[in-house]
Amino acid sequence: MILAIETSCDDSAVALLDWDGRVIISEISSQVDLHKKYGGVVPEIASRQHLTTLPLLLRHIFDKHAVELSDLKAVAVTYAPGLIGSLLVGVSYAKTLAWVAGVPLVPVDHIEGHLLAPFLDEPNLKFPFLALVISGGHTHLIVAKGLGNYELLGKTMDDAAGEAYDKVAKLLGFQYPGGPIIEKLANDFSNPTISFPVPLKGRKSLDFSFSGLKTAVRNEAIKKGVYVEKERLISYEEFLKTPDNGKKSIIQDIAASFQRIMTKIIYLRFQEALRVTDLKQMVITGGVAANRGIRDCLTQLAEQENRDFFYPKLVNCTDNAAMIGWTALQHLKSGNIDYTDGITLNAASKSPISQMTVELQ
Ligand code: KG4
Ligand code: ZN
Repeated sequence: MILAIETSCDDSAVALLDWDGRVIISEISSQVDLHKKYGGVVPEIASRQHLTTLPLLLRHIFDKHAVELSDLKAVAVTYAPGLIGSLLVGVSYAKTLAWVAGVPLVPVDHIEGHLLAPFLDEPNLKFPFLALVISGGHTHLIVAKGLGNYELLGKTMDDAAGEAYDKVAKLLGFQYPGGPIIEKLANDFSNPTISFPVPLKGRKSLDFSFSGLKTAVRNEAIKKGVYVEKERLISYEEFLKTPDNGKKSIIQDIAASFQRIMTKIIYLRFQEALRVTDLKQMVITGGVAANRGIRDCLTQLAEQENRDFFYPKLVNCTDNAAMIGWTALQHLKSGNIDYTDGITLNAASKSPISQMTVELQ
């Protein structure tokens, strides 16, 4: 079996997969309770917490499944991109385990992990496909032609989509992670009234931009008297319990209008990318792919355009180690990766995929 470790951001995650890629166990220890009050992940807290959580998680999994080091045929680890201190904890553990077990250490790019995550749940997905990797750190529109053969069609020029969700939630007074909260607020409010502008409208590019939109939301919140600067951030549940001071429906309206424009931006980009590539399969993956409104809208697009649409199960959208193990296995089996010198592996905040640039056709 292969052991996979993922610690690129705020979740410590460990998975075991058999050699056919079946997930034996995939566990995540979330640090959300430590970061939520700050409205985002605090890197220093995240790396320190991985140091405590990761060994506990590993011991728990090894004990629960009676796994011995001698059962491992390889160790996979996310080496980039992400928070460097967090990555270093996972890489150090993975290195040591692989060394002691005497097995290959396979470094995995976190973005490639997200890109290939739908294969965990979707047996019918095949290369090539059009994918949007959309998370707290990245927004990459990619043509996946084959394993390791990826072409970038567009990416965000500033904030990632998940970052935009988190920042908008924070300026409305909500805790991290903001995406699920904005989605719930939007679900409670069926007729949003604010028309936020579509960024980069009229341009031919398949890039994204969210920072201007975030500013537009901020200005709207200031204008309507609901902008939160230094108050204690609250959860969705606390919001529901708070007595209505006349501002609750304003907040819901802004959140729902933001959710509507995000869905529209993603729909329009996918539509254009399908036109340009004419690919028959489309994929959405990464933390923001957990958003049901976005999935539903893309499901409609796929039906209209007669394409097959794939996305991972919710638990495999956000950070997890199963996708890292799966990706490592594919590379191990294809033999196209150099994992022979795991002992010198280093972590990196950026990766080749995260830095890919759009090739002009
Ligand atoms: O993939 P992920 O777990 O970590 C990164 O690689 O960044 O993505 C986390 C991001 C956060 O920004 C979070 O707010 C967002 O995914 N997210 C969502 C939803 N669930 C998580 N955004 C919108 N709607 C959701 N339901
Ligand atoms: Zn991620």
